[in-house]
Amino acid sequence: MGAKGSTILVFDSGMGGLTVAGAVRRCMPEARICYAADTAAFPYGAWDEPRLIERICAVTGRLIDEATPDAVIIACNTASTVALDQLRSRFNVPFVGTVPAIKPAAEQTGSGVIGVLATEGTVSREYTRALVDTFAFHCEVVLHGSAGLAALAEQKMRGEQVSVTAVGDEIAPVFVDRGGQRTDVVVLGCTHYPLLLDEMRAAAPWPCRFIDPADAIARRVLDVTSRAAASGRAAGGGIAYVTGGNGLKNADVFTSFGFENTELVDLPVAAGV
Ligand code: DGL
Repeated sequence: MGAKGSTILVFDSGMGGLTVAGAVRRCMPEARICYAADTAAFPYGAWDEPRLIERICAVTGRLIDEATPDAVIIACNTASTVALDQLRSRFNVPFVGTVPAIKPAAEQTGSGVIGVLATEGTVSREYTRALVDTFAFHCEVVLHGSAGLAALAEQKMRGEQVSVTAVGDEIAPVFVDRGGQRTDVVVLGCTHYPLLLDEMRAAAPWPCRFIDPADAIARRVLDVTSRAAASGRAAGGGIAYVTGGNGLKNADVFTSFGFENTELVDLPVAAGV
């Protein structure tokens, strides 16, 4: 069974997952892509784990009912590193997660010094530590939890000015020089960060490779849906769902990424999810 006609739901706290949705559209042009932005709860970076797991499961469950997808991509490292197991056990839909690309970074580094940029939540997770211990034990891995980069990416998407200096301040900690061995690979461990790639390249103190995992995730989704997708669905189009009225302001951005409509599925944080 092919991916033709599949509905894929791409989930993130905000607009970061659009970097993944774009790659999925390129890889699966006949799929219907829906997008879910938990704008009522953005940003996820500093949420504590039990509350965040409940929030993600509640919102994902509601949007699975709404979009009836054949597969769900959790296009958010902060959500994937904390909630993937729970999601897989609660819902009978294939999930593809997004976790920091530490394995490819360890394979690609020449200096042995790797930077990992992610949210504060992601860098503190056991999941991320385990990736480092398993795949990059032979490298020096400089983890940095950024409090501000995801919000800067949202600003840029809304057409607001983002200064290279502000981005430079956020990424500076991952650039280290250990006796002449410098950071030469930086993992973009948050789906918002590829939206700031130009600013990061301009702000980096020396040239390095930035790893954006979006294409690898899209290939994985193609593999999953080739095995699991239902057939006979209408191709193309797709809706962008937001969980708070603030997200409706981003309707033009969703349109520019190919979504037909932006719809509010009202899930305020105060409602306990
Ligand atoms: N885009 C999300 C990620 O990949 C996080 C942004 C946020 O702080 O909500 O981690």
